[in-house]
Order: sequence, then structure tokens, then C-alpha cells
Amino acid sequence: MALVSLLSAKGSPGVTTTALLSAALWPHPAVLLDADPAGGDVVARVPAADGGVLDPDRGLLPLLTSARRGLSGAQVLEQAQVVAGGTRVVCGLAGPEQSLAAGPGWSALATAAAGLGHGDVPTDVLVDAGRVGAEAVHLDLLRAADAVVLVTRADTASVLHARERLRVLGGALRRGDGLLPRTGVVVVGDPRRRDADEAAAVLTAVGGWVEDFGRLPLDTAGARVFDGARTSWPERTALVRAGRAVVATLAAAAHGELQRGAA
Ligand SMILES: Nc1ncnc2c1ncn2[C@@H]1O[C@H](COP(=O)(O)OP(=O)(O)O)[C@@H](O)[C@H]1O
Ligand SMILES: [Mg+2]
Repeated sequence: MALVSLLSAKGSPGVTTTALLSAALWPHPAVLLDADPAGGDVVARVPAADGGVLDPDRGLLPLLTSARRGLSGAQVLEQAQVVAGGTRVVCGLAGPEQSLAAGPGWSALATAAAGLGHGDVPTDVLVDAGRVGAEAVHLDLLRAADAVVLVTRADTASVLHARERLRVLGGALRRGDGLLPRTGVVVVGDPRRRDADEAAAVLTAVGGWVEDFGRLPLDTAGARVFDGARTSWPERTALVRAGRAVVATLAAAAHGELQRGAA
């Protein structure tokens, strides 16, 4: 199994969209954990498998609430619901107050998520970590990850914020044994322009430990697939077509070895 955490540095570049896309295309059994401390979006954006609404009482809140007594991988899976398209999702919190109140529950959740699938049914966990800033209460979900994916747009301001976040994470994610999660960037940008490639070059220059996990096109129709819109051929959208290569890269990184060293 593998734990993959997706985050942004600032703004709303498309972390939730990329996380839903990744979960839909993931090459192994997987569950998506909506762990944005600002509040989860998935419950409002995606219908249940039967077309109805997802149960808002199932998800992260009962997990974090009971986490002080310890948490098992099986408990995490019990809170998952199947959404349209077949992805299993653990829905997120109502807002930042709930995430602050969870306190050490985040740490127990990270341990349970990282250990998930060591039992009978190997299950990868994809985490929508939302925006990660200095005050991040859920940093353990990144520290415990096999792969950390920073999603960014290609404009100058976004790239500068992403670069600063990577610098900080290089220190913050290093474990006692000196190992780091595989860490890299996915740049969302206009495929006809060079700025997404230039953004990736700037970000990988932060250090040899920052990888280029690929590009996703700006594609409104494709993004709407992960925003509850009914689309007859989602697999034909530019986003899903480009997503296959990105997701294959992420899965390979997450199932590879951890890396040594950082800034
Ligand atoms: N690749 C993309 N192309 C076009 N629009 C996108 C793309 N990814 C996300 N969006 C749109 O941008 C907005 C924010 O996306 P979201 O995934 O919620 O971002 P975040 O989780 O980073 O806040 C949404 O309206 C979404 O549909
Ligand atoms: Mg989001």
C-alpha cells in the first residue's frame, strides 16, 4: 500500500480536482481521504454512487473524534462511501473549527492511514490535504506519506508561493531516519504555452529531492467532471487523458523507495 498526500501552497489551483482525478484513475485499490482542514468539498461536489447525496455524518469527523483511543485502518475504511464513478471517499470536515478541535487526532489518523492495507486487502490512500501553511494541523498526513504532491498553477505568484512551501517542507517532512517522502509538483496550466514547463523547472530547482510529476491542462469541461457535472464521455476530456500519465507517475513514485536528504 501507499499513502499519497496532495496539497497546495496558496489559492485554489485544483488540489481537490486532481485528488478526485487521481482516485478515479488510480491503478490499485484506493480510498480518497478528504482532509482539507479548511473543510471538505467532496461531499458537496460529488454525488453518491446511486445518484443521491453522500451521508455527511460519515467521514473524517467520527474518525478524528474517536482517534484519541487509537485508530485502525479498518475504521478508516468503514467511514468510506462510494461516489458516482466508483471512487471510495472518506468525506471531510465542516470547517476549520472542527479541524482545530481534532488536535492530536490528526496524528492518529496519519498513523492509521499509513498502515492501511497491511492487512488482507491492500489499499492505497490518497489524501486531499488542501492548502498547507505554517499553521498546518495535519502535517503528519504529509510526513507519513510515501509521496507528497504539490499542485500549483503556472503563473509567477503561484510558482513563488509553491517554491517557498517546498523549501519549508524540505525541512518539515524529514523524518528521524533522514528519509523524506518522494516529493514533487504537478503544474496545472495551458498546454499550448511554455509557462507550465518553466514553472516545473523553477520548482525542481529548489533541490534535487523535488521531482516533476507532470502537467495537467486547464480544461473546464474536464474539471466539471469532478464538480458533480454529468458528462457522457469523461474519459475523452483533455484533463482525464492527460491525467493518466500523471497518475501513473504518482503511483510509481508512491510505490518506490523513499529518498534521502533535503534542503
Ligand atoms: N485542470 C483544471 N482545469 C480547469 N479548471 C480547473 C482545473 N482544476 C481545477 N479547476 C477548477 O478550479 C476551481 C478550484 O478547483 P479545486 O479542485 O476545488 O481547487 P482546490 O482544491 O485547490 O481549492 C474549481 O472550479 C475547479 O473546477
Ligand atoms: Mg480543495
